[in-house]
Amino acid sequence: MKKILSLFLILTLVSLFGGCAAAGNQAAEKGEWESVQVAFEADDYYARLERCVKQIREKTDFVPDIVLVLGSGLGDYADSVKIVAEIPYSEIEGFPVSTVAGHDGTLIFCEIEGKKVVVMNGRVHYYEGYDIHEVVLPLRVLHLLGAETVVLTNAVGAINADYNVGDFVLNVDYISSFVPSPLTGENIDKLGDRFVDMTNAFDEELNAIVEGVANENKIPVHRGVMVQTTGPQYESPAEIKMYRSLGADTVGMSTVVETIAARHMGMRVCSISCITNMAAGMQEKISHEEVQSSSDDASKSFAVLVSGLLKKMA
Ligand code: HPA
Repeated sequence: MKKILSLFLILTLVSLFGGCAAAGNQAAEKGEWESVQVAFEADDYYARLERCVKQIREKTDFVPDIVLVLGSGLGDYADSVKIVAEIPYSEIEGFPVSTVAGHDGTLIFCEIEGKKVVVMNGRVHYYEGYDIHEVVLPLRVLHLLGAETVVLTNAVGAINADYNVGDFVLNVDYISSFVPSPLTGENIDKLGDRFVDMTNAFDEELNAIVEGVANENKIPVHRGVMVQTTGPQYESPAEIKMYRSLGADTVGMSTVVETIAARHMGMRVCSISCITNMAAGMQEKISHEEVQSSSDDASKSFAVLVSGLLKKMA
């Protein structure tokens, strides 16, 4: 009896798997699976990067050494620089365009403190609905234009109770575990290796320069660990407790994924965060208006830090 039951079970399983395989073959023949089989095509994506580079090259032959990414409310800095060329993101086919108020979306090719800089005035965020590979596309394009260093700025909430609104934080490490990696999918071998070391993601030499400039100008600056969340909602107080217990000092909705993409390409990274609010549960409530007005208030100090860095860096 046992033998008969086992045989029946085996026959049932074989017919079930056979059925699935047959259905699968039919679907594959119809081409229904093609879109899910290859989620990310490295060659197609790289070709798009090259098309973006070509379009920019048709407008300017400027070769930047440094990318400066301006975060929310920090856009005014771009008004004070010596502009060589300006290209709105919307004029570059294949470039993602930001939908957030306060993130203008223009590439500004300029000289600051004698350095050749391309300013990304505005960035796109994962929470806007863009795929994570789109979020880092501009940085990859600007690296292909020649930039080997990136200075990332952003607004963050402070998780560390010793920090104050208006202080700055030099990121010395990060937690990316709550956002998808921009390196998932087929590796783009022309940009970097499949597996990337993140031990010293942020450049200590650049951090030391910013720290020196901050001290000279009595601007409060800390060294901290940033966690990136997907947003767009601000965190819950319970989430903030969790991030604190994991070792995070600040929380924001950008920067970490760009750092990962930059390190994949071997770029030097310096990341300066401006504290616009205490994190959820540490103040009464958080609003986008408060985040914007705090970063506006900090814009003068921010300009001092960035200009000082650009002046002194090799
Ligand atoms: N959380 C996430 N992102 C932020 C915050 C915050 O509190 N403040 C500014 N950006």
